[in-house]
Amino acid sequence: MIQTRTPGRELPMLDLIATGPAVASRVPAGPADERLTEYLPETRALPRFHVWTLGCQMNRSDSEEMAGRLLAAGCEEAPSLDVAELIVINTCAIREGAEQKVIGRQGQLARLKAANPGLRIVLTGCSVREPDRAGLRRRYPAVDLFLRPDEEPELVDRLGLASAHAPIGAVGATTTVGRTVVGAADRLAGTRAQAVGSGTVARGSAISAWLPIIYGCDKTCTYCIVPFSRGPERSRPFDDILDEARTLAAAGYREVTLLGQNVNSYGHDLAPEPRFAHVAGARWAGRQLDLAGRPDLAELIRAIEDLRTSDGRPAIGRLRFVTSHPWDLSDRLISALADCESVCEHLHLPVQSGSDPVLRRMGRQYTIGHYLERLARIREAVPGIAISTDIIVGFCGETEAQFEESLALLETVRYDQVFAAAYSPRPGTPATRLADDVPAADKRRRLNTLLAIQERIGLERNQAWLGREVEVLVDAVNAPRPHGHEDGALDPASAGASRLSGRTRSNKLVHLTGDPSLVGQAVTVQIAHAGPYALRGALVGA
Ligand code: 5AD
Ligand code: SF4
Repeated sequence: MIQTRTPGRELPMLDLIATGPAVASRVPAGPADERLTEYLPETRALPRFHVWTLGCQMNRSDSEEMAGRLLAAGCEEAPSLDVAELIVINTCAIREGAEQKVIGRQGQLARLKAANPGLRIVLTGCSVREPDRAGLRRRYPAVDLFLRPDEEPELVDRLGLASAHAPIGAVGATTTVGRTVVGAADRLAGTRAQAVGSGTVARGSAISAWLPIIYGCDKTCTYCIVPFSRGPERSRPFDDILDEARTLAAAGYREVTLLGQNVNSYGHDLAPEPRFAHVAGARWAGRQLDLAGRPDLAELIRAIEDLRTSDGRPAIGRLRFVTSHPWDLSDRLISALADCESVCEHLHLPVQSGSDPVLRRMGRQYTIGHYLERLARIREAVPGIAISTDIIVGFCGETEAQFEESLALLETVRYDQVFAAAYSPRPGTPATRLADDVPAADKRRRLNTLLAIQERIGLERNQAWLGREVEVLVDAVNAPRPHGHEDGALDPASAGASRLSGRTRSNKLVHLTGDPSLVGQAVTVQIAHAGPYALRGALVGA
């Protein structure tokens, strides 16, 4: 199926606001020692905060960490931006449109500040990149504090909130309240481990969790702002990730998504260790990453798969990972996908274009031949695996014939889902030295043509599920729709039941009717209706 960047997509770097499933309640952490309660300042003295998150899962994960730090410092969450005393905007810079969403809200934010002079606004995420501060102040005049993504752990310190809350201990650059670390000028891997260890990550869902494994990106895709905003690749230590996975399993999480701009690079920057001596000297030929004695993504996936419940099942039933760069997709990883029952039968493999010359200009490193070879291997190893991708139309110099190669690729691969966007030049990226010579009207037309073709393919792919029984992890209760709005009318026998939705292991969105208590459970659904973007079915045995 196909869509432009719409809510619910599961990919990095896009311009949407999270629509997470069931939101776990975010309660401010109490003091470590109850006797200290009476010494705490009035909670009213601390700002009520609201985090506005745009973009990818990495941003959503980062926002959970920031919200957790603010809660740990004693702040409460405000129900909306309008009534907050502290607004944290976690931005996305992947396309101009994503940045404009926030730039366009500066007037509203200035009005809120005029009405409440105590209001403070922090802007972080990928729009904050050096050397850009003067420009930032011009574009975001309502903002008081800019933090780069790697400075996010300093949020509480930089706002002076930690000092509003006793007792405070400073350990090097790390600030603690009670026994809880609330601020640190440390490497992200270290601060993440501390946040997880002290239980302060305010996860937005009690069912599915994000688990960052590598920060930054070493690729040089010419259109992409991410290497400039998020810096070079830094892998989290293997054991920290396993600890976080164990914590998530113990907390009852059913699904974990390993996150990174390019998860396939995981481990190349870690120190070699004897226990990883069996990892091959060089992985897939891509960058000939030296992995001798270092863990890779395959190793990590197998270790998470090996975490078991007392009855021997994988402790985390569904394991996903995004995003994979096709050039670094190793045979070792493909074998791990095939061997590990917890790994979901879905792979997001961004192709960006179906034309080799365009891929060359994009700096993508692979050819379509390589991409298709990898795909064939994956499909052989994991029959029926769902494949999704990202495509950019109208990149610099893309001819009509080159665009048609992208269309042809859709027919060849028959993706389950495509996230397509028109090329948007990003200041400071190498592609700005190429002419952005595809007229806007042509970009729009190409996008619509591609979307229409993929809509048909997505529908056909989904129709293959008709009549089949699938496992759906229910993650949302949806608001009732006006009568007749839906293609599948509710069964009268289930009147009173709610509209629920969830995902199959292959990441298909499935609507069903049932009791809200099913949220968080994996249920069996027989598929009765297929649309281009979602399936509908009935609970088996209900
Ligand atoms: N213009 C349009 N799309 C872009 N993407 C990244 N940079 C740009 C850009 N400058 C898309 C790519 C990437 C996805 C997350 O966003 O397709 O895979
Ligand atoms: Fe951007 Fe390419 Fe890195 Fe993805 S792999 S974040 S598209 S530079």
